[in-house]
Amino acid sequence: MGEFPQPNNIMLSAGASEAIRAVVKLLVSGEGKDRAGIMIPIPQYPLYSATLSEFDAVQINYFLNEDADWSLGTEELQRSIDEARKHCNPRAICIINPGNPTGQVLSRQNIEEIIKFAHKERLFICADEVYQDNVYAKGAEFHSFKKVLTEMGDQYADQELASFHSTSKGFMGECGMRGGYCELVNVDPGIQAQLFKLVSAKLCPTVTGQAVMDVVVNPPQKGEPSYDLFMEEKSFVLSTLAEKAKLVADGFNSVEGVTCNTVMGAMYSFPQIHLPKKAIEAAKKQNLSPDAFYATHFLEEAGVCIVPGSGFGQREGTFHFRMTILPPVDKIKEVMDRFKKFHTKFMETYSD
Ligand SMILES: Cc1ncc(COP(=O)(O)O)c(C=O)c1O
Repeated sequence: MGEFPQPNNIMLSAGASEAIRAVVKLLVSGEGKDRAGIMIPIPQYPLYSATLSEFDAVQINYFLNEDADWSLGTEELQRSIDEARKHCNPRAICIINPGNPTGQVLSRQNIEEIIKFAHKERLFICADEVYQDNVYAKGAEFHSFKKVLTEMGDQYADQELASFHSTSKGFMGECGMRGGYCELVNVDPGIQAQLFKLVSAKLCPTVTGQAVMDVVVNPPQKGEPSYDLFMEEKSFVLSTLAEKAKLVADGFNSVEGVTCNTVMGAMYSFPQIHLPKKAIEAAKKQNLSPDAFYATHFLEEAGVCIVPGSGFGQREGTFHFRMTILPPVDKIKEVMDRFKKFHTKFMETYSD
């Protein structure tokens, strides 16, 4: 296990999605109680639930801790795997860091705890690290699972890991180019060969996707002609994202009935809305989940599109929505103004 990437352990993919799907497919086997189970966070990015469903794997939910900045508690991981072992064969744990839709950035200590847990339970780690360049909160820092695993020493040298990256996020946002890669760490060479055979049958990502991925991992260096412009654009994009991350979370927290964790990273806020009973009943009458009811009203009355929390999963009885921080600062300010007006009116209409 070396800290430096070994080219033979890296496979290019048409976006991170393709690599994630290929690795999940590789991990799924067995029947009945022996069927492979894959642990995923709740809330999650729906690629995971969709992929598990397509490959008929057992979805094992572990809940992120909203009260502790959406971190991963090991007690919850243990609860979730202990329950799952009764009906399936847990094979892997997926972690999204920084988080989508929850925007958390895991501390180094939390990552170590997760690695220890995975090692103890003999789980393959799928580390979705596509937002690694999107870290905004003071004191927060991105630590890759590979780096932390490597630093934990020989005791963990047999821990299998796949790390995923993408051209779609960061300060690039080139999702249409379909570029990504997966780095495999400590994966059994025989299994790795099977994976490469599996993906080779689909040939390769587009040349443009590969070229953009190359630019992402080899940015202009000091002294090169485009370095100054590159740094100027990069710092503009990242600093405005940081400004919007704060603006949005502060804005939500200033409104009664809404609570929002710090948007530490990624590109989204995921506030909780405390809905009155009357609104929940009105939603039921329309056969909508309460958060979808709220989101529909927000779209129709204020022209702003958000995604209901039920699309990502959330603890029963809680309601959230995801709102991106991507629009320009001025637009975001206007959106927050519209939100405050809409929310106040909505709560008045449905107050108990
Ligand atoms: C957490 C996460 N993983 C993976 C992806 C997929 O990225 P790509 O466009 O590289 O397939 C996304 C896209 O939104 C994402 O949010």
